[in-house]
Amino acid sequence: MRNGMGRSDPSAPVLIVGGSFNKQSACTILMKYTAALFEERGMSYELLPPEAMNLPLYHPDMHADSCKEAEPLIAAFRRARAYVWCTPSYHYSISGAFKNLLDFVELMENDDPPFLGGKLVGLIAASSGPIAAIHAIGAMEQIAHALRGYVVPATAPIGPINRAVDREKGIITDDRTKLKLAQMVDEMRDVLAPV
Ligand SMILES: Cc1cc2nc3c(=O)[nH]c(=O)nc-3n(C[C@H](O)[C@H](O)[C@H](O)COP(=O)(O)O)c2cc1C
Repeated sequence: MRNGMGRSDPSAPVLIVGGSFNKQSACTILMKYTAALFEERGMSYELLPPEAMNLPLYHPDMHADSCKEAEPLIAAFRRARAYVWCTPSYHYSISGAFKNLLDFVELMENDDPPFLGGKLVGLIAASSGPIAAIHAIGAMEQIAHALRGYVVPATAPIGPINRAVDREKGIITDDRTKLKLAQMVDEMRDVLAPV
């Protein structure tokens, strides 16, 4: 049960992955805030930097044992007990860089159980306007289901993002955004570590 190993282990981290290469990325602010929420709840997490998306273009001939660049990413996916995915909304969907990263989960096809192995997935998206982040969440929901993940009901579409964060200060300025992220993390905690 290689992929299943993180599931029953409460010390296994929640993997927070995705984001944007933008220097003053709103996604980075949302991801760091989410990491702090896990910390406050005594849950371990692993926050991957946007550079984790620096991968070659996924190719169907790639194999888990032969793609060195993807090894750290696949290892992080395997050791996680749950995931938080975060994307900027590009053209009402997810970014190409993040989609390419998720394509690499295909390398876990022969794991037992395959792909995400029934693990929980929390979803965050940021957009300039009010609607595009919702569509990006919808796109990630479809991908998570295709990869055998269970999406947390409380998702966090954040838009208009510039009313929710101060990019220069690197902080969230809007209480509703903080609440959305806290609701998502609380739902994950309730499933992963019921009290
Ligand atoms: C290529 C591209 C496409 C985008 N498409 C949309 C869009 O369709 N609707 C929207 O509201 N925002 C769109 N945006 C804005 C981003 O969703 C928004 O700036 C987001 O905050 C980016 O996250 P980041 O700051 O972490 O890079 C787009 C941005 C880029 C670069």
